[in-house]
Amino acid sequence: MITESPLLDNPDGPVPGITPTGGPIQSAITYEKIPTHIYADAKDASRAVAQEIADLIRQKQSEGKPCVLGLATGSSPKTVYAELIRMHREEGLSFRNVVTFNLDEYYPMEPDSLQSYWRFMREQLFDHVDIPQGNYHVPDGTVRVDKVGEFAKQYEADIEAAGGLDFQLLGIGGNGHIGFNEPGSLINSHTRLMMLDNSTRAAASSDFGGLPKTPRKAITMGVASILNARRVVLLAWGERKAPVIRGAVEGLVTELNPASYLQTHPNALFVIDEAAASELTRMKTPWLVDSVVWDNKMKKKAVTYLSLTLGKPVLKLTDRDYNDNGMSDLLAQYGQAYDINIDVFNQLQHTITGWPGGKPNADDTNRPERALPAHKRCLIFSPHPDDDIISMGGTFQRLVDQGHEVHIGYQTSGNIAVADDEALRFADYVVDFNAKFGIKSPEATRIFQDAAASLREKKDSEKDTNEVRYVKGLIRMGEAKSTCRFVGIPVENAHFLNMPFYETGTVAKKPLSEEDIKITMALIEEIKPHQIYAAGDLADPHGTHKVCLDAVLEAVRRLKHKNFMKDCWVWLYRGAWAEWDIHEIEMAVPMSPDQVMRKRLGIFKHQSQKDGVVYQGTDSREFWQRAEERNRATAGLYNRLGLAEYEAMEAFVRWRF
Ligand code: F6R
Repeated sequence: MITESPLLDNPDGPVPGITPTGGPIQSAITYEKIPTHIYADAKDASRAVAQEIADLIRQKQSEGKPCVLGLATGSSPKTVYAELIRMHREEGLSFRNVVTFNLDEYYPMEPDSLQSYWRFMREQLFDHVDIPQGNYHVPDGTVRVDKVGEFAKQYEADIEAAGGLDFQLLGIGGNGHIGFNEPGSLINSHTRLMMLDNSTRAAASSDFGGLPKTPRKAITMGVASILNARRVVLLAWGERKAPVIRGAVEGLVTELNPASYLQTHPNALFVIDEAAASELTRMKTPWLVDSVVWDNKMKKKAVTYLSLTLGKPVLKLTDRDYNDNGMSDLLAQYGQAYDINIDVFNQLQHTITGWPGGKPNADDTNRPERALPAHKRCLIFSPHPDDDIISMGGTFQRLVDQGHEVHIGYQTSGNIAVADDEALRFADYVVDFNAKFGIKSPEATRIFQDAAASLREKKDSEKDTNEVRYVKGLIRMGEAKSTCRFVGIPVENAHFLNMPFYETGTVAKKPLSEEDIKITMALIEEIKPHQIYAAGDLADPHGTHKVCLDAVLEAVRRLKHKNFMKDCWVWLYRGAWAEWDIHEIEMAVPMSPDQVMRKRLGIFKHQSQKDGVVYQGTDSREFWQRAEERNRATAGLYNRLGLAEYEAMEAFVRWRF
């Protein structure tokens, strides 16, 4: 664990005013109204939560009592369940005295359906531990609608009869929902049928093959039912949860953010990773909460924050601005605002370069990249077949135009993001093409005919056949090659890795395997790059981007002793969702209006990802729109800080290994 809230922690927590490591004295200011533990990543955090649950189960066992757990589904608790299973297998943790009640279930929903929470719980936990059948309960999505009220009352009575919840595990929706208590739910609400918020449906739509097929209702335990638990622990991973976490932890108690009701619970804890914590005051503006070490990074963070908050360019900040905004100790270190301003302004200026591969024959002391070697081998890892052009298309083009040898490692096939009718169109095309030109390839025709037939007959939520997945993968491969030709690299420089972890045919992926890492290492060894670019996505901690990043970082760690790696720098770009914070950026590559337009045309090559895609999520914009708005926003921030005004900018952070 890296940090705990200084004052509001449980009695066994750190001494008020002192950091857990006994570090510097903390100020008495805290903005947090719920004890919050922040961990470096979800894995560490999940281990701590699983340990708490295991301790509780064992304590109840020693008292000869049942342990009554309220459980959640969704992506957040998966790592906790995995750790509990490990403890069962390796440490003999028994679940024989455990009784569980799940928070919610979609309605209507058959228990054996791919998306049911009943099935989720069996696959993620119950089938792997010794919990007696009959001890676990999930709201029944098959109850007749006129019987739901009765069912809900009985569900609560059953919890009561079991002795009430000893422990309730929660995730949190992007809109603040707990269970499926959507915004507007009252603090005294009980188990009931709930209409799902549009944003909740959009977030779930990838599991259901699109929004129209996503349920509109769910049965959920109410807010009061949750607050009745003797202990409540809420999990949140990834920066997409950061704003709603800040609202729940620091904001007012409001039905607009149901998780904020946990402020009224005497024994609630938020366990979150650094990314989900990133909007909390102690993370975003730590100098307001505590004394900080003013290293270059912290100075850049504080000064850019001050400048953007006050709406004043960095070079115009005054002594008074620093004093009035909790940064008088920084001012005292420098003596006057002018010197801090110049220092941070220079830091910012030195991140900007039109030469992402280094500028040949130029002094590179203050440039983000080395001048030598003048012609570099660059390896761009692209998690899906379009991330290279969406997230760093301008930089990709510059690297090619400036004479570097650019290779792309397409990490996954991206096949599940192709719509069925798109695949059908291509399958039909091949059959017609063969027929028209008299090409006798009965095997190919059979494969494509089978694929076409299976697509026509496929039921909702059924997995694609291997052939269909292959067709879908081919479509995306063709689009990626088309982008490479457009940018100007030979198609041989496009390497399709088809990492096995991705090939499940469903949204849920396998964990990263040794084979995935080996494939990644093999490509790095083949290219021996001077630069590696990878998608450094934290916004989607359980998603494909994070697994792809883990593969690259692990491959680099294992190869770092090799000679060629001494010359290799790793740059991280962000995926389609978010951009690096301005103070984190170490290389910003500007784009002219023409370059923005060219990048747009490169993104257009990905026809299967246009006009309402399978995994649209909550953002209805097309990918080229997201990319342009984001790149313009980065340029806008540099400009507001008082630097030159560019049309757009792509941003990178260096990963030092
Ligand atoms: C699921 C549930 C929901 C989820 C929430 C977050 O049982 O009750 O409140 O916890 O939607 O989902 P993830 O963890 O997938 O982001």
